[in-house]
Amino acid sequence: MKCIIFTNNSKKCDELQAILVDQSIHVMRYKEVVGHEIDVVEDGVTFEENALKKVRALSHLKDDIKLADDSGIEVDCLDGNPGIYSARYGGEDLTDQERCGYLLNQIKDKSNRKAQFRCVIAMIFPDGTEQVTEGVVKGTLTQDIRGNSGFGYDPLFIPDGYDQTFAELGPEIKYQISHRGQALAKASHHIKTFCSTLNH
Ligand code: IMP
Repeated sequence: MKCIIFTNNSKKCDELQAILVDQSIHVMRYKEVVGHEIDVVEDGVTFEENALKKVRALSHLKDDIKLADDSGIEVDCLDGNPGIYSARYGGEDLTDQERCGYLLNQIKDKSNRKAQFRCVIAMIFPDGTEQVTEGVVKGTLTQDIRGNSGFGYDPLFIPDGYDQTFAELGPEIKYQISHRGQALAKASHHIKTFCSTLNH
């Protein structure tokens, strides 16, 4: 059984493969299967709508499990923004570091620095069933950029219960507690359940 993932990000693919390693499931990026890019306009107003739009773009791959995710950071003092707009916040062409600087500037006078990362995963199984899972990790935003690992807003985000940012904690710890790790663990549970029905 193959699981086709709607991403060009090899790290996301590796994370899912690691979780499904004992299930005889081969995780592949969609481009390796369809041979070309598929352009999906992410114009949904929720993470779930965008994740479903992406995974439905693969619905013609009938025999395989299809999976797509959408994620972002929600900042309390910005009424939950940038949320689904996290990747473009402050302008399309900013580097991760510039985007972090932009966010810090937006909240420079705010005392409430609570924020959360959210990830929604949408899946379509070979029988056409759709499943959606979600993971959330709560934390606090720093006053400055801290740490070198990860991507996006990782250097600003200190998860609750820790005193270092995701970019300082590194991938092993981040993966165990992150929004994406939680959503993937729930997704893998659905995948295992589906596979066990095939074996009976
Ligand atoms: P996407 O779901 O891969 O499109 O990511 C959306 C955007 O949300 C990213 O470009 C980042 O700016 C932000 N984001 C999502 N997940 C993370 C994370 O784990 N760390 C840091 N930033 C993230």
